[in-house]
Amino acid sequence: MTTQHVEGLVSQQQWDAVDDYFAETLIGHDPALEAATAAADEAGLPHIAVAPNQGKLLHLLALTQGARRILEVGTLGGYSAIWLARALPADGTLITLEIDPKHAGVARQNLERAGLGKVAEVRLGPAADSLAALEADGVEPFDLVFIDADKPSNPEYFARALKLTRPGSLIIVDNVVRGGAVADPDSADLSVIGTRRLHDLIAAEPRVSATSVQTVGAKGYDGFTLARVQG
Ligand code: SAH
Ligand code: DHB
Ligand code: MG
Repeated sequence: MTTQHVEGLVSQQQWDAVDDYFAETLIGHDPALEAATAAADEAGLPHIAVAPNQGKLLHLLALTQGARRILEVGTLGGYSAIWLARALPADGTLITLEIDPKHAGVARQNLERAGLGKVAEVRLGPAADSLAALEADGVEPFDLVFIDADKPSNPEYFARALKLTRPGSLIIVDNVVRGGAVADPDSADLSVIGTRRLHDLIAAEPRVSATSVQTVGAKGYDGFTLARVQG
C-alpha cells in the first residue's frame, strides 16, 4: 500500500465521512435519537455517547440475544440506553446506572420522550454500589450487560456483571483500546491499567469466552470487548 493510501485511510475526516455514510444509509432519520442528542448538547453533556452505528450494533446484539433484561453501567444522556431498550419486548427491563444527577435527569427525559419510560429505569449513584444492591436483591439474571462508565473500574464492573448474568448472557465493554495504550504493560494511566486488568480477569475466567475488536470511526480509534458467559 502506498503512503498516499495509508494517509487517506488514517484520516479522521475519512472515518467521519464513512460513519456518516453508514448512518445515512442504514439508520436514517431518527427523531427520538436526534432529540436525545440535542437535549444532551443543550445540557452541556460531553460528546462521548456511542456513535449511531455502534448504538445500532448494541441494538442488534440485544435482539439477537432475545434480551428481556438489559443492564447498562454508565448512562450519560441515555443515547445507548435508547438503542438497547428498543430491542426489548413491551414487558422487558433495562436498568442503567449513572453517578451524575444531571446526566441521569437528561437520560430520564430522553428515555421518556423516546417512549421507553416504562421499560427503562435510570438508577442514580456509584455503579459499584448499585451493582452490589442488585446482587443483594437477588434480581433475575440480565441477558446483556453494557459496561461504559469510568474505565479504571472495569475489572470490578465485569466481576459484578458476571454475578448478575447467566450462561448465554453477553457482556460488552466499551473503549478498551485507549488510543493503543492497552498494549503497553508499563502504562501508568489508570484507565489503561483497569482495561488490562479486565483482560487478565477474562483470560483467567473459565466461565467466559471473549474477544476484543479495534474500531475506527466518528469517535476516532477505539474498540470494544465482547464476552459470552458460558454454560
Ligand atoms: N453509555 C453512554 C455513554 C456513557 S459515558 C452512551 O453511549 O450513550 C460514561 C458515563 O459514566 C458518564 O455519564 C459518567 O457520569 C458515568 N460514570 C462515571 N463514573 C461512574 C460511576 N462510578 N458510577 C456510575 N456512573 C459513572
Ligand atoms: C470517554 C468515555 C466513553 O464512554 C467514551 O465512549 C469515550 C470517551 C471519556 O471518558 O473520555
Ligand atoms: Mg463509551
